[in-house]
Amino acid sequence: MIVLIRKSHTDKLNLIRFLHSFRSSSVPISAKKARQMFLDFYIRDNHYSFVKSSPVVPFHDATVPFVNAGMNQFKGIFLNTHKPLYSKVANSQKCIRIGGKHNDLEAVGQDGYHHTFFEMLGNWTFKECSKEEQCSLAWKLLTDVYKINKQHLYVTYFGGNTTHSLPADNECREIWRKLGVPSNRILPFDMPENFWEMGATGPCGPCTEIHYDHLRGPYRAQFVNKGLHELVELWNIVFIEYKREADGKIVPLPDKHVDTGMGFERLVAVLQRKISNYDTDLFQYLLKAIFKTCKDIPQYKNVFGEHDWNSLHASYRILADHIRMISISLGDGMIPEENQKLRKVLRKAFSISENVFKRPNGLVKELSNYVIDNLGAVYSELESNSKQIHMIIDYEEDIYQELRRNASAEWERIILNDTALANLDVLEMPGLVQAYKDIRSSKIDDLTPQYAYRLYDTFGLDESGITALCKSLNIRFDPVAFVKELEAVKQRSKAGTILDVQIPELADGTLKTEDNLKYDYKRTETGYNFQPVEIQVLKILQSNAPVDEVKGGAECALILDKTNLYHESGGQISDGGNIDFSIGEFRVRQLKKINDCILHVGSWCSDKDLKVHAKGKLTLDESRRMCNMQNHTATHLLNAALKEAKGATCQKSSKVTDRYLNLDVGVFSEKLSTDELKSIEDKINRIIQDGVVVSVTETDSQSMLNQNVTVIPGEVYPEKNIRLIEMNWNNSLVSREPCCGTHVHNTKDIKLFCFVAAKSLGRSTVSIHALTGDRAIKAKEYGASLHNELLQLHKSVTENSQEISDEHLQKLRKKLSSNVNDVNVVPLLVKVECLRILDEIAQQIRERSRNKLKEYIDLEMKSAVETKILKSDVDNKFIVHYLHTSIAGESVPLQKATKAVDGMPVMVITCADSVVKARCTVPESYKNDKFTAEKWMQVVGDIFKSTVAPPKGQDKELVCNLKGKRIDDSEWQSLLSQSLQAAELYAKKHL
Ligand code: SER
Repeated sequence: MIVLIRKSHTDKLNLIRFLHSFRSSSVPISAKKARQMFLDFYIRDNHYSFVKSSPVVPFHDATVPFVNAGMNQFKGIFLNTHKPLYSKVANSQKCIRIGGKHNDLEAVGQDGYHHTFFEMLGNWTFKECSKEEQCSLAWKLLTDVYKINKQHLYVTYFGGNTTHSLPADNECREIWRKLGVPSNRILPFDMPENFWEMGATGPCGPCTEIHYDHLRGPYRAQFVNKGLHELVELWNIVFIEYKREADGKIVPLPDKHVDTGMGFERLVAVLQRKISNYDTDLFQYLLKAIFKTCKDIPQYKNVFGEHDWNSLHASYRILADHIRMISISLGDGMIPEENQKLRKVLRKAFSISENVFKRPNGLVKELSNYVIDNLGAVYSELESNSKQIHMIIDYEEDIYQELRRNASAEWERIILNDTALANLDVLEMPGLVQAYKDIRSSKIDDLTPQYAYRLYDTFGLDESGITALCKSLNIRFDPVAFVKELEAVKQRSKAGTILDVQIPELADGTLKTEDNLKYDYKRTETGYNFQPVEIQVLKILQSNAPVDEVKGGAECALILDKTNLYHESGGQISDGGNIDFSIGEFRVRQLKKINDCILHVGSWCSDKDLKVHAKGKLTLDESRRMCNMQNHTATHLLNAALKEAKGATCQKSSKVTDRYLNLDVGVFSEKLSTDELKSIEDKINRIIQDGVVVSVTETDSQSMLNQNVTVIPGEVYPEKNIRLIEMNWNNSLVSREPCCGTHVHNTKDIKLFCFVAAKSLGRSTVSIHALTGDRAIKAKEYGASLHNELLQLHKSVTENSQEISDEHLQKLRKKLSSNVNDVNVVPLLVKVECLRILDEIAQQIRERSRNKLKEYIDLEMKSAVETKILKSDVDNKFIVHYLHTSIAGESVPLQKATKAVDGMPVMVITCADSVVKARCTVPESYKNDKFTAEKWMQVVGDIFKSTVAPPKGQDKELVCNLKGKRIDDSEWQSLLSQSLQAAELYAKKHL
């Protein structure tokens, strides 16, 4: 053994493999089978319930960037905010550890057992914590079922921590002893190793871990938890008893629970007798696929560190690791634009594909298919969302390539001067160039947390990016202080809204407005029934300060005990309404929520004083509410229809008002075409006509996981009481969104839907404006009348050659360019059609006037020839002519003018819009040494100071043009007569 330790790393690993091959001759267990054996053991044999893996997007927990452990979806149960559906559960959970407390990104590829994405085999018991049961089940599974040799196993337990007054877990130590684990294999550790915490805050507790030593023998206990490749943690059994508070204190929880997690990839490596996870069937197919699809590269080898001299094999490992993480994240609806860490991983994968494997395009997407095939049977969302996975990879690859072309060049120049920066990858940190320039210009040695926040906020650099940049520039930076600053900024921005209004009962939550009544409305045969509510004024605020009363005509805000009005939230504007007090009326314009109170902002219309505690009747503005509801429900339909049409979309923002709806959506494929818009509009109108029920149910984040719900990436949803709005149109379009807005109860009540605008915002976002209800009907009627008017006009222009002025056409165009807020709005698709007709009309008119112009030119030239002949100036058989027709302002076809003169030299000069042009032709028989088209034109060229040249490919002696030249109006007459005279003289002299 001593010999082994002294040997180089690769020799050691080779020897270990050699030893393994002798240890057992049984057939290794496949990953698929190993996963199933775990689930069978807990679910079938020990009666645990199966709970599906949650997506890796933590949609109700802002404290972690990704789901980083199997317990994340049960956090609410541990913190006692959520009731468990089952008391004992087990599953295999998708986990990502590339940020926050658990971050393995830098280690990936450098060893064989850290991953960005991994599966965690876990089991949990809620409100019950039998350490004995958990340790013995885990031991039995490993040693009896998987038949792992006990002599390779070590266990650790929590040895206590005095700073936090946490006792050692001696109970656990005794359990392991009873299970037959020798004392020298039961090792105590302190907090970093044996006290598990989910994040900076949240559930936590002492844990006991099972470690596997790929080698065997005495004196190995000292290597446990020392980061050796061959001695790794396999299973972590956490006894959740505490919670870490934001101030750092660890406080007991009301109940104790069990949370266990085993690294699946490491287990498979043990079962397949490999030291590196990459040598198992979970990765081999990917490494082979990379080799197969990339020509002229050596095959993957299990070598690390200095033995991997050009990092080829680390690159193989990183790419194989990253492609699993990318496929899983995208399959779970994560959007790189909303998650810079995912984008960073994607860019690393693109960069390796291009620079190491010489595949600048398509490799990442191609490899994602292998992951979908391999893991799709376990996580079906990979298969159902494969189109989305592919589209987003393509889209991100395009951006990456563009960035490479632009940012890389500048970064390369910077590196030339500052070589220490060469290890930073600008493609992984697009804001790097700007951040670098910013730091350089400020000439600092110390980066304050506030400055770091600026880099984060303005240039998008994260903690690791700032750390790396400062390290390269030799600037001091404290990442811990930076994280604290981030937290403080968040708190400040939260506090801002609360502290604007200085009322203690408002800040401490004593004052409350009951506002569930906003959802209390019924649909009847004739419309919706919104009941007024009897209310009492709790506070009156003027200029954000509490007052006891206000005078007539005052502008103020009332905090009421209850309200049936909707306050602005979830993108929907607030309701309006009236409060009828016996002494006057309060007109509510807007509502704002501060803590648990709702402020009704408006004007007091009376000549009497309004006092605190006054009672009145609150009635909402039904027509405004109705329009809000129509627009909100239609927004959900639009969101679902867009997703269906484009395969993958992501809602960026939405605005629902009583006048229109606006949805900004990210699309990862081509822009929306007119045909697509038409088919979406038609579909939504069919759903409206079909009268689909809009159901509202309450759900919680746990149940939402199984309901295929459309969520906004990056949005954090509450854990409980989530309103789920659903519409199912014959299973062919299903909309299911969590939403706090107010909706119609039946799609029929939306009446009509039409697009008004669909504009591109940046590269991938389309901003859509649309109308519903009476405004849509009105717009449709207005659009139809305009369309009709244009059709008539088209007919008159075509059939009766009706003349139309430019002004008239402009007016029509202006009518079509309506805005969503105008009284008369033209629906987008009608507008597109009308513009097409208008273009056709304009084209016809242009053609007609061009034909006329040609006729005029012909006439004018003929008359010029006749005049010349009449003058019987037979010695001077040539024409020099200023084309008067050009006064029409149109650029005239000069060729047409010269062609009108047959058999003699002709020079024509024109001027349109202050630009002079000329052309001359000289028949072959007139040409001589001194008289050619070019020489003749040069005379004119000298006067106008413009160049002369023949038309492309033509003989300069026979035809020549004067290049268009702008002439000042004051000089024009004089230059013209000079040039006409000079051209005449020249011809006379040389012909
Ligand atoms: N939550 C613990 C861990 O992630 C056990 O699953 O290690």
